[in-house]
Amino acid sequence: MKILIVGNGGREHALLWKLRQDAPDAELFITRGNGGTGALATALPLDAGEIQALAGWVEREAVDLTVVGPEAPLAAGIVDHFAGRRLPVFGPTQAAAEIESSKAFAKGLMQRHGIPTAAYRCFDKAGAAESWVREHGGPLVVKASGLAAGKGVVICETTEQAVAAVREMLGGHAFGVAGREVVVEDLMRGEELSVFALTDGRHVLPMLPAQDHKRVGEGETGPNTGGMGAYAPVSLATPELMARVTEQILLPTVAAMEEEGRPFRGLLYAGLMLTEEGPKVVEFNCRFGDPETQVVLPLMASSLLDPLLAVARGESIEGMALEWKPGAAVATVLASGGYPGDYRTGLPVEIDAAIGSGGDVIVFHAGTRDEDGVLLTAGGRVAAVTALAPTVREAAARSRRAAEGIRFAGRHFRGDVGWREIERAEVHGA
Ligand code: GLY
Repeated sequence: MKILIVGNGGREHALLWKLRQDAPDAELFITRGNGGTGALATALPLDAGEIQALAGWVEREAVDLTVVGPEAPLAAGIVDHFAGRRLPVFGPTQAAAEIESSKAFAKGLMQRHGIPTAAYRCFDKAGAAESWVREHGGPLVVKASGLAAGKGVVICETTEQAVAAVREMLGGHAFGVAGREVVVEDLMRGEELSVFALTDGRHVLPMLPAQDHKRVGEGETGPNTGGMGAYAPVSLATPELMARVTEQILLPTVAAMEEEGRPFRGLLYAGLMLTEEGPKVVEFNCRFGDPETQVVLPLMASSLLDPLLAVARGESIEGMALEWKPGAAVATVLASGGYPGDYRTGLPVEIDAAIGSGGDVIVFHAGTRDEDGVLLTAGGRVAAVTALAPTVREAAARSRRAAEGIRFAGRHFRGDVGWREIERAEVHGA
């Protein structure tokens, strides 16, 4: 079997790691690769966005499965192109990927179909947005409607902050094309939960929920990032809560997408807020989350390959079940100095030889590259170090210790990943 992973970050490294276990004899390929994927897969000299060239290669090589990691190629229509050439590919079509690439579409979908989310308005003119914000008052969240790499969201506790945010996005073009339209919604309070569901367009297989840490600094301080760490399982995600999420959010969303002529096949990521009124959708993504994938897949006991293949072949996943290992996983992201702002690349990375030797720590590379045997930084998020242990507290300590053993100039990471779960365990005397 031949499998191609499109993308070359930490999420894609984790997908390779899991598929290597599910299919030890498969030939694995990745677009470009990074400094950590060489032992698992052959790197193709093609970028994730080179859709025609990738399809040509997949056709010639008779690749059995292509899995698309990042949102950009999905939003650009990679799945439509592959499907048009009858190439098995896992991911949603361009029209279905709008659930992530257009927040205005996603909010409208939820409103039309009664899927719980915050009240909102969309604007494309700064003046109209500002008048409404002043009339409505804060606290509000201002979001660029298009793709902005996790950075196009401004939490505004006050009306003045919201006015500044809409002016910056619509008047100052802070997020370019992505910010030409903005969604302004009521600020929801509570804890966030990332729920991934594999779906064939009708049925859903929810995966183990995880919690992401989006702020750059410990104690949830500083600007938003793509994600500085994640852990699973999350004790707030009880079987009762997950049944409610499935019945009130996941199934109605895939039914709504089908009804609107955009069946969603692939990985639906529901970013939820657990409010006092119950779970509500903060945002949908059309692909696996990063760094949540780096904790969810190491805890997955059943095959990921089987449902991916079924969805890519247009088959049903009805009756399939996912199984999970006991214990917990914590991923700590190591970032370049300055990230999420400007940062340098090309800096040597040292990884202590003992890391990973016990099998309970896995280093998933993201922004790294191998230059003639020397590992160098190549991005803002350099790597995620995932540790497995019986509890989140132990996994967090193990992940933090391992993170100390990965060194490059300017390195920073959060030493408090999993803190909410650890506090909860303390309250319950665990
Ligand atoms: N962890 C957030 C995301 O993948 O968008």
